[in-house]
Amino acid sequence: MDALVAELERLEAIVAGWSPADAAVARAYRAAVEDLNGEAFRRFIIALRAEPGTFSAMRAAVRDELVYAILRRYGLIKPSPQEASAPVPLPRPLAPAQTSAWLPAGTLREIPEDGIRATTIGGEPVLLWRSGAALSCVQNACAHQGFPLDGGIVADGTIVCPRDGFAYDLASGDCLTAPGVALRVHGVRVAGDDVLVRLAR
Ligand code: FES
Repeated sequence: MDALVAELERLEAIVAGWSPADAAVARAYRAAVEDLNGEAFRRFIIALRAEPGTFSAMRAAVRDELVYAILRRYGLIKPSPQEASAPVPLPRPLAPAQTSAWLPAGTLREIPEDGIRATTIGGEPVLLWRSGAALSCVQNACAHQGFPLDGGIVADGTIVCPRDGFAYDLASGDCLTAPGVALRVHGVRVAGDDVLVRLAR
């Protein structure tokens, strides 16, 4: 694993020396490959979970450091108690990546209280949710088969996919009906009445 991480770091150092335009193409290519990999992992896990007796095998597999890091990167498992209580940085190339820019996402008033607003930020369909002081931004694509979630029922900080009924916590992105599955959660903050989003990749 150390050799693989070292090779990734070596390649990232090369890209860092490229012109901004070339580096942006390389980052976009990496993001596209990662999106494809993440979708494949999601489908793989959903298919495994449908088979009786596979849950214990999946739990055992997640004890492997690399398997854990990759599944965390794609938001497919929750943080382990150890990570939650004493966060340990993952190897840099495996850490959850975010775009550096905070992008405008409308105003706070456009998000109904205890409701959602569907929009597209930087080409990414997202859901903005607020309830009192709580505000979040999650991907607007069900982790099951990618169906848009914005037609789903929203209640008590959760949304239910209108297609097959997966339910999600809108604050954490966690799936409440299929443990180990989650929506991607984007960074969100407020400046005055403006909402800004930083996309997680
Ligand atoms: S697409 Fe199947 S539950 Fe959402």
